[in-house]
Amino acid sequence: MDTSTTPAGAEIGTPRDTWGSKFAFVLAAAGSAIGLGNIWGFPTVAGQNGGAAFLVVYLIAVAFIGAPVMLAELIIGRRTQRNPVGAFKALAPGSAWVVVGGLGVLTGVVILSFYTVIAGWTLAYVIKAITGAFTAGVDTEAMFTGVAGAALPAIGWHLVFMIITIAVVLGGVRDGIERWTKILMPALFVILLLLVARAVTLPGAGTGLEFYFKPDFSKITTTVVLAAIGQAFFSLSLGMGAMITYGSYISRKDDLVSSAAWVTGFDTMIAIMAGLIIFPTLFSAGLEPGTGGPGMVFVVLTSLLSTIPPAPWGGIVFGTLFFLLLAIAALTSSVSLMEVASAWLIDERKMPRKKAALIIGGVAFVLGIPSALANGAVGWLSSVPGIGMDFLSFLFMLFGQYSLVIGALLISVFIAWIWGTHNADAEVRSNDGNFPLGGLWTFLIRYVCPVAIMAILGSLLWPYIAR
Ligand code: PFF
Repeated sequence: MDTSTTPAGAEIGTPRDTWGSKFAFVLAAAGSAIGLGNIWGFPTVAGQNGGAAFLVVYLIAVAFIGAPVMLAELIIGRRTQRNPVGAFKALAPGSAWVVVGGLGVLTGVVILSFYTVIAGWTLAYVIKAITGAFTAGVDTEAMFTGVAGAALPAIGWHLVFMIITIAVVLGGVRDGIERWTKILMPALFVILLLLVARAVTLPGAGTGLEFYFKPDFSKITTTVVLAAIGQAFFSLSLGMGAMITYGSYISRKDDLVSSAAWVTGFDTMIAIMAGLIIFPTLFSAGLEPGTGGPGMVFVVLTSLLSTIPPAPWGGIVFGTLFFLLLAIAALTSSVSLMEVASAWLIDERKMPRKKAALIIGGVAFVLGIPSALANGAVGWLSSVPGIGMDFLSFLFMLFGQYSLVIGALLISVFIAWIWGTHNADAEVRSNDGNFPLGGLWTFLIRYVCPVAIMAILGSLLWPYIAR
């Protein structure tokens, strides 16, 4: 179907845009999942939360909480063929559950606002790489401050990235999103492999590998567990209805369970590889994990890229390729963030796709300005009084972690206890009658997901409640 003439939002009975094939869907959903969350977010959060201990909790969270919620969102999406707000309206008409969809739309816009700030840095680094800035001995901290710490470049690149995102969303699901991801995924994988090989053979890399793979279980606290669950949702694009929206474009012929498994598997593999690049390099350079805030990954990556011989070509070739691929990976994710709110305006407010994308992009751009200024350009935003972190990290924690965790909790309670797992079961089986691991999924989504999430949120909030 040609999306340039067919808006993705459709009434019941009119044809809705769908992915070209199951393979295309898996690629697009993996495109949404794989992004800054894997390469920037995962090493940042893992570094702040004890390295290997975090990795263990993260993998458990992905397998037992992330994967079942992924399937739950795909089921709701394909069943209703709607954006998150429309989906809850369709499954629980007249109830308050539509608020979950609304929270998802809001969360998507806020995450988009700071996501494009970080993605903007990757564009600036593409230019740095091309112009040969990555050579041995370069001060990579000063380079980061030059990019992110000055108002004009930070806001400018944020704007450029937002405009590119709007342009892709305007193209619609098939033409816009599908095309990019097909080329990107294999290319990103290859360059990551090369960088892993380079990082683990650096002198002193062993200490980094130890930090990453040798868990000190005494470091596991409720904060670490919440950070791991939050990071899993962020990385897998869960908890705000992005996978409901993407699932709404899956055809009835396709198999949901294996789609969910592939996306979860790809995403986790890329995050693990990013850690294999960052931690050996970080320790080899004598830096401390857990410090440096949002800029840490950029500083570490550029110091790795600057060592690749022969100078200056190693830095130019690998640096340009890497940041270009990272920018495209970020683009396929920012597109999905924008698509949630856009699909809502298109479906529910009957807005043309073009107007919807422009409005969402405009709002997110303005909302992102404080985040763009929070890495050195404006002092109090770089260390918000009373909060003890920069504004961007604060929004990431509030919306990129808490809001997604709460959203995912409500989605699992809804599908397990309100709409009912028998309905979910029927939707999964609607293509070929099978639901592999259906019993396990039902158990996880009914008991494990809600109880684990509530326990963690409760134990964090308890000190405030008991006061
Ligand atoms: N999963 C994306 C990443 O790892 O970069 C970010 C993201 C996209 C989060 C879409 C949430 C979402 F709905």
